[in-house]
Amino acid sequence: MLNTIRTVADLRVQVAAWKKAGLRVAMVPTMGALHEGHLSLVRLAREKADRVVTSIFVNPTQFAPHEDFDAYPRAEARDAGLLDSAGCHVLYAPTAAEMYPDGFATSVSVTGVSEPLDGKARPHHFGGVATVVAKLLNQCGPDLAIFGEKDYQQLLVIRRLVRDLDLPVEIVGAPTARDHDGLALSSRNAYLSAEQRQVASALPRILKEAATTGSDIEATEKRAADELLAAGFDKVDYVEFRDGEDLTKLSGKAEAGTRIFVAAWLGKTRLIDNMAV
Ligand code: PAJ
Repeated sequence: MLNTIRTVADLRVQVAAWKKAGLRVAMVPTMGALHEGHLSLVRLAREKADRVVTSIFVNPTQFAPHEDFDAYPRAEARDAGLLDSAGCHVLYAPTAAEMYPDGFATSVSVTGVSEPLDGKARPHHFGGVATVVAKLLNQCGPDLAIFGEKDYQQLLVIRRLVRDLDLPVEIVGAPTARDHDGLALSSRNAYLSAEQRQVASALPRILKEAATTGSDIEATEKRAADELLAAGFDKVDYVEFRDGEDLTKLSGKAEAGTRIFVAAWLGKTRLIDNMAV
């Protein structure tokens, strides 16, 4: 049975009891509006640990003022049902006041891997992510925490954060769960109209095609961006080949470990995806 916890103090009591009993604890941080992608992380957590805590917190500090914080889908009752069926033990859903009490003044910023791609397109985003993830990991104290490769740059930022701050937790990356046509599952797909959803199919197709070319990086990036616009995307933030470990920009020919990253807009919805080359 799923137990919902709303305070740091209660979460610590629960996790301490599990640890005392010798149980291994996994955490899956999310912003809710759960889909099969999130649930695949919860199932992986169940395989790797004895107890699973999924957090749901729509973190205001990782949204810029003009972004979709207010519109972001919230569906806690439905999410709780899905987590219960997936075998999650605790839903940790703190309030904003619990996470950011009056006077809150600390932030964590990760340089390097935070800077290109989404870091450029969304300048304060990864600072907000790093701060909230540092807090969530400290609050829960799991043995391991699972993050999706769907948000590959975020996964690298969190690996860096955990290494640099000596957080005693193992970070596990999980493969991207996709819809029948290859579109990466995302809470933001819910914003798409039926027509936009059809156009969105082009994104994984074009990305995969580019990922299998990789012989002339610049030409392939340009062609993929043009193809996205021709398919009906309204704007392309980036299509870039980068090193999968440190996100260094590559040119010429793709090498082992290269990934291709894309962010593109359909109306007011921004979709991101990435693949290994
Ligand atoms: P959210 O977008 O809800 O995603 C929560 C976790 O689910 C992240 O690790 C994300 O990479 C993973 N995920 C999302 N879609 C996925 C898919 N199709 N396949 C596999 N995994 C997928 O990412 C966040 O929330 C927030 O930034 C958070 C880390 C919780 C900090 O606020």
